[in-house]
Amino acid sequence: MYLTKEEEGILNGAQGPVMERMMRLLVNLGDIYGADKMISVGSVQVAGVSYKSIGDPGTEFLEDMASKGAKVKVLTFLNPAGMDLEDWESLGFPKDFAKNQLRIMDAFKSMGIIVTSTCTPYLAGNLPRFREHIAWSESSAVAFVNSVIAARTNREGGPSALAAALLGKTPNYGLHLDENRRPHFLVDVSAHLKSDSDFGALGWHIGKIVKDKTPYFKGLPDWTTTDHLKALGAAMAASGAVALYYAEDLTPEAHLHDTQGLEKIFVDDKEIKATYDALNSGEVPDIVIMGCPHASVRDIQRVADLLEGKTLRKPLWICTSRMAKEVANRMGYTETIEQAGGKIVADTCMVVSPIETMGYKVTACTSGKAAQYLPGFCKQKVVFNDVESLIKEVT
Ligand code: F3S
Repeated sequence: MYLTKEEEGILNGAQGPVMERMMRLLVNLGDIYGADKMISVGSVQVAGVSYKSIGDPGTEFLEDMASKGAKVKVLTFLNPAGMDLEDWESLGFPKDFAKNQLRIMDAFKSMGIIVTSTCTPYLAGNLPRFREHIAWSESSAVAFVNSVIAARTNREGGPSALAAALLGKTPNYGLHLDENRRPHFLVDVSAHLKSDSDFGALGWHIGKIVKDKTPYFKGLPDWTTTDHLKALGAAMAASGAVALYYAEDLTPEAHLHDTQGLEKIFVDDKEIKATYDALNSGEVPDIVIMGCPHASVRDIQRVADLLEGKTLRKPLWICTSRMAKEVANRMGYTETIEQAGGKIVADTCMVVSPIETMGYKVTACTSGKAAQYLPGFCKQKVVFNDVESLIKEVT
């Protein structure tokens, strides 16, 4: 792989051992995947933030980097942490866990990383431009920005994203290149999609079939919103490893691709119904958690409207970014939701927070991605349904 003089110098230790190690990591990755050179990235999003995911070894690694003066070169955001970074105590997050989570956030902050923790950075102040090269690691955000914005990123791991942030570069391979962005399957949707969870179910079903390949959707309704597309991509990235999809007339590069000759997948109502059956493993929820990927302001507004004047019989969380929560506070949505007995929980989510240690065994959600991960990561049985039905069930 071609390296500039400066890059070669970094690899030989000219900028100290931390940068040398980071450059070595990216060069090794580039060599494995056949990159021809390094390219500059416009922004980075780093995963591996929750103490639940990285534990003591990850925390010590980050503190070590920070103590050696590591500083990021480009706008860098973080994936959800293991708790609400401000309201963790009132929400019942364990104290020991909080202490360690705050150590992690301090280390990131001293590296110059913006310590807002969200899987929807594109809704919270880190919006890439069309065809911009970036290095992001949260799989749902990768699917969103590659597809809905047509920015360009591989599915980075936590360490490779951190290296990209410190160097401002990434190896040029995979989805940075035109030839790897062609669709492989044509998904013909005749199912009558009605809700966010239907888009999650569709995504979960397709991710299982296409795995890490690129699907091209035809037949998605013209009322499809960015919230529906984030639900769709997140579920495909979780049940499969989809990092890019196209949707006819809905995503910006869809018209560039010829779908003649692609292998076809047909989806009608019976596949969607079968997916609901497959994802539902629980019956009566202990808690309802929405916001996977993190809820947009519109998602929160909808829940607030549905909860107006009602009282919840079970806890309800809406996971979101700190920015969206601020708007919800200002608009009175937080007050409406709290009056019903619910909470808006920022900076974290149902999968990376330690809900299994907080007394919950059955979690209800509207997300195909959460329904995929809750059993394994959080030992939860799952109730998967649309927002209206879940709220009806617990009020
Ligand atoms: Fe985001 Fe957590 Fe879901 S990181 S996509 S809310 S599993």
